Amino acid sequence: MTRTLVAAVLLIAMTSLSACSGGAGPSTNTGPGAAPGWTGITNPKDVIAARFKLMEQMEKLMLPIDMLQVESGSDPKVLGANAAVISAMLQAVPHLFPPTTDLYDPQNETPATIALPSIWKDFTTFYSLADAAAKAADNMAGAQGKDAQLTASAQLRASCDACHMLFLRKYEKPKAQASDAAFDFDAALGEK
Ligand code: HEC
Repeated sequence: MTRTLVAAVLLIAMTSLSACSGGAGPSTNTGPGAAPGWTGITNPKDVIAARFKLMEQMEKLMLPIDMLQVESGSDPKVLGANAAVISAMLQAVPHLFPPTTDLYDPQNETPATIALPSIWKDFTTFYSLADAAAKAADNMAGAQGKDAQLTASAQLRASCDACHMLFLRKYEKPKAQASDAAFDFDAALGEK
């Protein structure tokens, strides 16, 4: 879907929504509540799982795009098609972060989410980083020629990193244990 089309659909949706709520009687659609469909309230863990899956799939689609930095030879059509899908996914991203999914627990080694609480303290920044990333993916999708694709792919990766740097739990390398040094790699690999 093009951006204009998305905007038009949104406008129609918003107009019909306000038309409903303008009628007699209170509308049930004014905010999160008991009405069916507020999945952030009824299923916050599912929302977290969905956005995590989305991110993992974007990472897979990024593989050939990232490869461009080290070697040429990828099919430009594949790169463009992947970027178009990534752009659509990135448009959905900020809508998968309702405040009920602010469940990061630094004490827990495997927390429900690794999205940091700062997202909800500065949602405007989070939202605009998602938008910037979607636009970077659009640029990648439309880039013609090797040089343009090379630049666009670096910008797209940078747009992923920009958000992760601010809003993702920092990656910590697993600590090496004394027992690791004594580990018998040959035996483990079946070479003994
Ligand atoms: C607007 C912010 C934002 C943007 C843009 C963004 N991400 Fe993420 N990403 C997150 C957050 C927040 C999480 C953690 C989600 C959770 O645990 O609930 C995450 C998690 C991930 C993860 C899983 C955790 C990890 O580090 O292994 C991957 C992989 C990932 N993102 C890839 C990408 C890729 C690829 C892009 C760009 C195409 C991207 N993301 C763009 C915010 C973003």
